Amino acid sequence: MPSILDSKCILVTGATAGIGRALALETAKLPSKPKVIGCGRRQDRLDQLSEAGIEGMQLDVNADKETLKKFVDDLVNKNPDLDTIVLCAGIQRQFDFQKEVDLDAVSLEFNVNYFSVVTTITYLIPHLARLAATGRKCSIITVTSILSIIPKPLVPNYCATKAALHSYTMSLRAQLQGANIHVAEIVPPLVESELHDAQGTTDVLSKFWMPLDEFTNTVMEGLKRGDTVVAAGNAKNDYEQFEHPKDTAFAQTTISAPEYVN
Ligand SMILES: NC(=O)c1ccc[n+]([C@@H]2O[C@H](COP(=O)([O-])OP(=O)(O)OC[C@H]3O[C@@H](n4cnc5c(N)ncnc54)[C@H](OP(=O)(O)O)[C@@H]3O)[C@@H](O)[C@H]2O)c1
Repeated sequence: MPSILDSKCILVTGATAGIGRALALETAKLPSKPKVIGCGRRQDRLDQLSEAGIEGMQLDVNADKETLKKFVDDLVNKNPDLDTIVLCAGIQRQFDFQKEVDLDAVSLEFNVNYFSVVTTITYLIPHLARLAATGRKCSIITVTSILSIIPKPLVPNYCATKAALHSYTMSLRAQLQGANIHVAEIVPPLVESELHDAQGTTDVLSKFWMPLDEFTNTVMEGLKRGDTVVAAGNAKNDYEQFEHPKDTAFAQTTISAPEYVN
């Protein structure tokens, strides 16, 4: 299995805060000294990353597909060695469907957490497949959530975005096996970050969250081993209890009838 230790050039989206920033900083310290490219909207944060040797590329992932295609083309032209992508950018919003719901906000959350990830991956697959065909170890790493397994009604659409991304990641892994592209999924529990600032719940949640350093260490160990699913804390327990049993059935489906859809 490819390990993050094999990576020569890594893209991390959502690198201006929280989990993405921590993973960008840690991967940049790997003994293989990969080039790390970090993305986000906030230029001042990207400038801070450059002090740690991480190249910043400003990107709003909530862009139309032409803009994302241009971003990917520029990225690949400048970085023909790009072999690993970590798609970390994400937002979380509360919605109460008994009250008035801002459907534009629902759509934005789905776009950032799911469609932009699928679009970016789609545009990058031809490049990664070409590189993998030369024998390079290539990886696509998505970031889902413990809430992809058991939803929390306070953030219903967020949970749906992450469940969609989890399902997509499983199918993508099966589809890209032949192309020799490793597809991994990071499944965080509640982790210290800026994710909940927009909802004003950071103070409450900070009493329960996993410290970012602890989470990052666990994830880096999993990525170094080349694990397919890297879950930490409660997310590991939930994954093992509810998702792991699906793996055998899923493997049988893809082997016995890959053309079957319903
Ligand atoms: N922390 C948790 O408890 C937790 C639990 C499970 C899963 N996760 C997942 O982990 C990932 C990282 O979240 P985090 O907790 O580290 O949150 P965070 O501290 O708020 O960081 C979110 C990152 O996403 C970027 N981002 C948001 N909207 C963007 C946009 N439109 N375009 C480009 N970048 C955008 C932000 O950059 P800019 O604002 O600079 O654009 C920032 O770098 C997310 O996918 C999240 O769903 C987090």
